[in-house]
Amino acid sequence: MKTAIVTGVSRGLGESLAAMLLERGYAVTGVGRASSAKLGGEDYRFVPLDLADAPAIEDALKPVFLDIAQSRPESVCLINNAAAAGPVGILGTLEDAQVQRSLAVNLFAPIAISNLFCRIFSNSSLERRIINVSSGAAQNALVGGGPYSVAKAGLEMLTKQLVAEHREPTFIAITIRPGIIDTGMQVFMREQPRDVLPSVDLFRGFHQSGQLVSADVVARKIVGKLVEAAVENGRVYAYKEL
Ligand SMILES: NC(=O)c1ccc[n+]([C@@H]2O[C@H](COP(=O)([O-])OP(=O)(O)OC[C@H]3O[C@@H](n4cnc5c(N)ncnc54)[C@H](OP(=O)(O)O)[C@@H]3O)[C@@H](O)[C@H]2O)c1
Repeated sequence: MKTAIVTGVSRGLGESLAAMLLERGYAVTGVGRASSAKLGGEDYRFVPLDLADAPAIEDALKPVFLDIAQSRPESVCLINNAAAAGPVGILGTLEDAQVQRSLAVNLFAPIAISNLFCRIFSNSSLERRIINVSSGAAQNALVGGGPYSVAKAGLEMLTKQLVAEHREPTFIAITIRPGIIDTGMQVFMREQPRDVLPSVDLFRGFHQSGQLVSADVVARKIVGKLVEAAVENGRVYAYKEL
């Protein structure tokens, strides 16, 4: 059976990705603080985990990854999707504890989960794929969104690192910058006061000019073009090209 592990399935893109993968016949493991009422059935399992809790990650996921490996799947795909947009604020105003939490969820967790993935799914006859969900913010500084931007830049380096270190033809890692999606993350950003998030007009503009795409539409493209189809190993994909 084809299997997928998706982080951040309670809502937004992760919920849509997990639902789409179940629809396509994948056995799906959702990981996060909460699941979604839209996800269920015998091919779905949920692992409760706060991804900010770094020491808990291996304990929670190792038995599940071992179980997946023992089921001798046809393929296994990890989608590092979960992320938090906050804290917002320019450097000089941020609280270190919040920055640390942001980096834990947005960068440390994908590294730790990928590290475990490479260790447990080491059989080179197994088709393995890691998809890191990044953002345009990885490339351009987002004024008032520093911790998120820095983490996404690091996440894109994680893709490069995986590709450089795992050379088997059955191992693929790619990055997707998924575009402007109509989720809670966009609501959070456009509702910030301008003095806290000087780039807020960018997000208000996305909304006012109708640029937001539904999570289901983005998920369908990611599953069809990046999970199921052949991809260029190591590449940064943008929503526009899907
Ligand atoms: N929306 C956009 O326009 C946009 C643009 C570019 C990139 N992206 C990227 O796309 C991905 C999905 O974003 P989205 O728009 O779907 O965001 P979202 O609606 O805010 O959903 C974020 C998901 O991450 C989970 N999450 C956050 N903190 C967590 C934690 N500490 N532990 C476990 N799970 C946690 C959330 O779970 P809880 O319900 O527990 O908080 C939720 O399931 C992210 O990587 C984001 O950076 C989004």
